Amino acid sequence: MSSYDVSAVRSSFPILQHEVHGKPLVYLDNAATSQKPEAVLEVSRHYYERLNSNIHRGTHHLAQEATAAHENARELIARHLNASSAEEIIFTGGATDGINLISSTLGYSGKISPGDIIAISNLEHHSNTVPWQMLCDRSGAVLEVIPVTEQGAIDPADFDHLLEKTSGRLKVLALTHISNAFGTILPLAQMIESAHRAGALVVVDGAQAVPHLSVDVQKLDADFYVFSGHKVYAPTGIGVLYGKHSLLEELPPWRGGGEMIRKVSYDGTTFNDLPYKFEAGTPNIEGAIALAAALNFLNELGLQNVSNHENEMIRRAADALTSIRGLALYGPSDRSGSLSFNIDGIHHYDLGTLVDKMGIAVRTGHHCCQPLMNRFGITGTLRASFGCFNNEDDVDRLAEAVEKGVEMLR
Ligand code: ALA
Repeated sequence: MSSYDVSAVRSSFPILQHEVHGKPLVYLDNAATSQKPEAVLEVSRHYYERLNSNIHRGTHHLAQEATAAHENARELIARHLNASSAEEIIFTGGATDGINLISSTLGYSGKISPGDIIAISNLEHHSNTVPWQMLCDRSGAVLEVIPVTEQGAIDPADFDHLLEKTSGRLKVLALTHISNAFGTILPLAQMIESAHRAGALVVVDGAQAVPHLSVDVQKLDADFYVFSGHKVYAPTGIGVLYGKHSLLEELPPWRGGGEMIRKVSYDGTTFNDLPYKFEAGTPNIEGAIALAAALNFLNELGLQNVSNHENEMIRRAADALTSIRGLALYGPSDRSGSLSFNIDGIHHYDLGTLVDKMGIAVRTGHHCCQPLMNRFGITGTLRASFGCFNNEDDVDRLAEAVEKGVEMLR
């Protein structure tokens, strides 16, 4: 392994010093939400103790300082994603909010007509399914789904088939970068290139990718890319929508209110420039600043080091669990972030409840992916999802707890 010092990383997370049910906490629910390091907690606290003020409005000192910190955060996030400018970074409430922004404004724009195709994959979270269904209902467009293989992956031939079938009618391709349920990494670069050749816009749900991968939106050539702060060690209620400048310019505003306007009169309103056109109302100022701190924290660890370490922990967990009789793992072996499994004859909820009593936090259920669960004929899985602070002891305690739980339930 590299020189990655997981003990030092763990000591940055105050919550890991606490016990659950009298046992040291093993937190393996990072795909649901990540824990927050001291560096992020400190920035949030500092904001409210020293900087709190509304931004872009006040002439007073604090307002200017808070505005500068907020806009510096936007710059840092633009650099982190390799966006071509900070104007392409829209602050949102989270990934779901970003997808709703795009699906709604595409609908208002008149770009989606009856009979057009919107395609998603069978791996999508409900947040990258339902907004598109809603847009189809409003516009008369048709939703197509790229199937998922038995290994929980996308077969490029299935995507090619969809492109042939929908020739000339594919308007939007909305894909997750990494599946929250199975950890599958999608072959986005090739899919985006093919979708563009077919004339479609591509929206990427990066909620599970930004904590684990270095994302370069220009290299990917994604038209829109969204993620949530809380899954990447920042607070809840903050997220990012990246969009290509020219495309964001073409879209109409979404929510109306203060900040997104240039001039308001009863005869009509004109709208602000990017990115403010899409940021009505007082934003989550502290969240944006804390998100920049979280990305700094990750960059200091080195995203490659983090993902190498996490992948090693996931492989160790997969190896330890496969010795359990009747265990089925979902997703391909080169999964990222999440390890999902079931044990024959045992309900994931029962096992998850027992494992929790042993101090291990995992998620059970459909993971907001009911169509994916239906595809596999299951109601859910037990999912362990990894972050930068998980260590070998966490993995060993997970495996022991699952074994013990299985013995109790059999
Ligand atoms: N999207 C979150 C998860 O996968 C809530 O758990």
